[in-house]
Amino acid sequence: MIKQRVLTGITTTGTPHLGNYVGAIRPAIELSQRADVQSFYFLADFHALIKCQDPQLVHQSTREIAATWLALGLNTDNAIFYRQSDVPEIPELCWVLTCMAAKGLMNRAHAYKASVDANVEAGADPDFGITMGLYSYPILMAADILMFNANKVPVGKDQIQHIEMARDIAARFNHHYGDHFVLPEAQVDEDVAVLQGLDGRKMSKSYGNTIPLFLPEKQLKKSINKILTNLLEPGQPKDPATSPVFQIWQAFATPQQTADMRQAYADGIAWGEAKRQLFELINSHISEAREKYEALMANPTHVENLLQEGAEKARAYSKPLLEKVRDAVGIRKIR
Ligand code: TRP
Repeated sequence: MIKQRVLTGITTTGTPHLGNYVGAIRPAIELSQRADVQSFYFLADFHALIKCQDPQLVHQSTREIAATWLALGLNTDNAIFYRQSDVPEIPELCWVLTCMAAKGLMNRAHAYKASVDANVEAGADPDFGITMGLYSYPILMAADILMFNANKVPVGKDQIQHIEMARDIAARFNHHYGDHFVLPEAQVDEDVAVLQGLDGRKMSKSYGNTIPLFLPEKQLKKSINKILTNLLEPGQPKDPATSPVFQIWQAFATPQQTADMRQAYADGIAWGEAKRQLFELINSHISEAREKYEALMANPTHVENLLQEGAEKARAYSKPLLEKVRDAVGIRKIR
């Protein structure tokens, strides 16, 4: 059986939260359990340097994200789970691709453009504070993907452009040097919930409105109590459609539980009670994984060993491909 190769990266700049879990981690772990899929999941720590120049934060986040994925049941026998910086073929391929990537293409990358626009708006030099890392970011991402000839790349909508750029760069390379790379496709799952945060906007580290996934119980309860509600009293009917509490409920509940909560809203459930039930629901989902997480955080050697094993498996793919790429571009032994 030829397995589909599915690959995705997680930038190591933060603590995993409920939105990451529902939107990315849970579907990725489910996908990795399919017999017809070979999954590659990696900690994108070179990408982290673009956004975060605090060494302690990058390191801590790497540690937390690795422990989180493992605690939630990622099986490293079927998924290849590694750290980007443990695969030296990736930055090497990145350079080769940099020499194939059109500058004009990079000019259009939205993360870079957004920074330029913000500078212009502020009356500053358009390049103020913009590093070459930010500018070249889509090429590093192309190297991540093409290195493993991934077919499908599950990402959020904001990343679609980068996958298209990876295709573009791959096609250009193939045209010039012969067929070496699979053209990857973005996989954006419309069914996967984009979770709302404490303030009702999309849950995101950049809005500071997240609920970290593995908070200790008491703090989880406190955090859930901070979710935005309105001034409706107990007994007054409430609107599920505009309620972040309901929306988060839905991401964890069975269809029956969702229907029951919808009825409770119509019957005027008190906000305090709705939040208490939400806490119970989330806690029952994650309490077992939280124990594993705490054990993994207390045993960094074990996590490191698993990452090293993952890197070895990944390099079984990346080394031979890079050999071919080097040969294709004319970087060869003299003989
Ligand atoms: N840039 C992606 C993000 O911020 C993370 C990432 C890095 C990635 N390399 C990747 C995602 C390769 C998919 C494929 O979400």
